[in-house]
Amino acid sequence: MAKKKSILDFYEMKKKGEKVSWITAYDFPMASFAEEAGLDMILVGDSLGMVVLGYEGTIPVTMDDCISHCQAVRRGAPNVFVIGDMPFGSYQTTDGEAVANAVRFLKEASCDAIKLEGGRRVISKIRAIADAGIVVFGHIGLTPQSSGQLGGFKAQGRTVESARELIKDAIMIEEAGARALLLEAVPPELTEFICSKLTIPVYSIGAGLPCDGQLVICGDMLGLFQAFTPKFVKKYADVAGVIINAFKEYVEDVKTEKFPEDKHVYHIKDSIEDFEKLFKEFE
Ligand code: KIV
Repeated sequence: MAKKKSILDFYEMKKKGEKVSWITAYDFPMASFAEEAGLDMILVGDSLGMVVLGYEGTIPVTMDDCISHCQAVRRGAPNVFVIGDMPFGSYQTTDGEAVANAVRFLKEASCDAIKLEGGRRVISKIRAIADAGIVVFGHIGLTPQSSGQLGGFKAQGRTVESARELIKDAIMIEEAGARALLLEAVPPELTEFICSKLTIPVYSIGAGLPCDGQLVICGDMLGLFQAFTPKFVKKYADVAGVIINAFKEYVEDVKTEKFPEDKHVYHIKDSIEDFEKLFKEFE
């Protein structure tokens, strides 16, 4: 089994040009599969609101939801670097509340780092959490928690004006003490430029190749999440199809009494005559 990586290992990988692979996971089985498959990191994203809890967006997700899913992921992947995602409302108020909520991810769920969305408007929160000794991942570009302000789940940084703001945000995030940055749904040209300006690792979800690694949402890449599929997703499996077909086959087997078979039942240990006597006692 590979040794659990630390943030320093990710710095080393960046230096060597070795790409980091990460996915989101929200529960014990998925986390254990990720560990077995050799993923470098797991994000317990607040996307759990859409992928697992059936909300239309991430806004309703609470700290308690995130902590409970992080705990399950930690149990499933004790040897993988796990990042807890700060949900909407957990860091938008005061620096103190942001630190207190970030601390919960480490104390209650043994996370290795936290991630929060936004640039200049959350700089004081990034600084406060980093100053508390917690590894912070920044996240800019398409930030789902502010999809209302962005006018939907839309790619960012495609115009010079929008790209300029993202470059400024990226620099401020590093200066505030973040140890890594995630870029979501921005053009690769911008990703490459931001990478060249920062010393911390820069990762992509829908931000192209020229950076230090890739993140995907497990529900997207496995074909589990059905509501929509972003352009940047490569589907590696049709798990929903496999599950639906299995359920259909089960329904058919139940209706036609093909299930359960003899091998699926427990056999009596005493004689059938003894059992018949027993049943008579109740007549
Ligand atoms: O919640 C999440 O999974 C995320 C990704 C979209 C980056 O924040």
